[in-house]
Amino acid sequence: PRPILLTRHGESQDNVRGRIGGDTAISEAGQLYAKKLANFVGKRLKSERAASIWTSTLQRTILTASPIVGFPKIQWRALDEINAGVCDGMTYEEIKKNMPEEYESRKKDKLRYRYPRGESYLDVIQRLEPVIIELERQRAPVVVISHQAVLRALYAYFADRPLKEIPHIEVPLHTIIEIQMGVTGVQEKRYKLMD
Ligand code: G3H
Repeated sequence: PRPILLTRHGESQDNVRGRIGGDTAISEAGQLYAKKLANFVGKRLKSERAASIWTSTLQRTILTASPIVGFPKIQWRALDEINAGVCDGMTYEEIKKNMPEEYESRKKDKLRYRYPRGESYLDVIQRLEPVIIELERQRAPVVVISHQAVLRALYAYFADRPLKEIPHIEVPLHTIIEIQMGVTGVQEKRYKLMD
């Protein structure tokens, strides 16, 4: 069985400020995570010549991958974070205050709610299809460095979790979720590299 390692990017500047979306760099804590992740991947995939590192096209995932050496890196637009459209760059407080109807409709149905000029979780799930097909096809391990909403969807696929749960699954920062696909089903391990 070959592992798939799922992780969010290291903490970003926008994570610190509580802003959604954007394309900021990673914080100091995020950089520390990037180093720990590289160390972990180096050990875990030492003899895995054909392994690869997949990121989104956003800086925070590319920077998180940068200390990892010795494996090819592939950028996927399909791994980019959910597009928050007109709310990109806002905090949840600002959305609640300035766009209360949007805030309420998202709360009511987070799976189907589509940000104006942006995406819904269902949109994200749909655009992940080619990534999932490619992940299934790979024989070698893959490290996927992406974003919370996207990883909720990917995780739910492998862990066989129902659609309606997807927007609420916990995918903490600075934690690796290792999925092993074997004949007897899917096994999962978590490695929390930082507090
Ligand atoms: O920036 C967006 C978040 O990673 C997704 O979180 O769907 O719970 O608002 P949310």
